[in-house]
Amino acid sequence: MKIAIIGTGSLGSTLGKMWAEKDHMIMFGSRDPQKAKKLANSIGSGASGGTYEEAARFGDVIVLAVPWSAAKESVKTAGDLNGKILVDSTTTVAPHLGGTLIERTPSAAEKVAKWAVGANVIKAVHTVGVESLNKLQFGSQQASIFICGDHLGAKSKVKQLGIELGFDVIDAGPLINARLIEPLAMLWIELAYNQGMGTDIAFKLLTRRKTK
Ligand SMILES: NC(=O)c1ccc[n+]([C@@H]2O[C@H](COP(=O)([O-])OP(=O)(O)OC[C@H]3O[C@@H](n4cnc5c(N)ncnc54)[C@H](OP(=O)(O)O)[C@@H]3O)[C@@H](O)[C@H]2O)c1
Repeated sequence: MKIAIIGTGSLGSTLGKMWAEKDHMIMFGSRDPQKAKKLANSIGSGASGGTYEEAARFGDVIVLAVPWSAAKESVKTAGDLNGKILVDSTTTVAPHLGGTLIERTPSAAEKVAKWAVGANVIKAVHTVGVESLNKLQFGSQQASIFICGDHLGAKSKVKQLGIELGFDVIDAGPLINARLIEPLAMLWIELAYNQGMGTDIAFKLLTRRKTK
């Protein structure tokens, strides 16, 4: 799959590296294209780098991996996203983990969908710390992530990408349900940083039914 990563920070670079290792074609987009090219070279596997717009043009799947405060501007800078799958991985935590920046209604993902005209927005990968991405197995349990979105085909592709990372991917329904799953990221942050549990934690949905 051709995957564009918008933002070369800790989440974007880690996801890009992991998917490159799974033989996906990766293009990093950065406000500083030289930074994206340097990151791509360090990863190898044919990864490339450029501007947000160049990356967005390249990707069939585009991952928005920027701070919430920069999300609107970044989506606009990425240009025409019509028909693209846009994965919103943002959390709306305030700087220095100081609470949440927006109300839950509408959710961040719904706002992203308004800005990214014509894109199929899927909320995903927002409830796990980047430190855990390489170790999603907790004993016999696989970490769960919740994803949601309105376009079933797009959601199925993102689900597959999540499975390739090592997640137990739970389809939480339509995009409006981002209002339910986005606050889980706040709970994760609270537990990890304020309640002393550390970042090596993840959510798990228990069920007696097969979820895949
Ligand atoms: N880190 C995690 O564990 C984690 C987990 C789940 C979700 N998230 C969410 O994923 C998103 C990215 O997180 P991150 O940890 O990768 O953040 P980060 O390390 O701070 O990187 C964010 C990237 O966004 C880009 N950016 C665009 N506009 C920016 C601005 N005004 N200020 C700063 N950076 C800007 C930058 O890339 P360029 O310079 O290349 O443009 C920057 O490297 C956030 O919304 C975060 O809440 C993070």
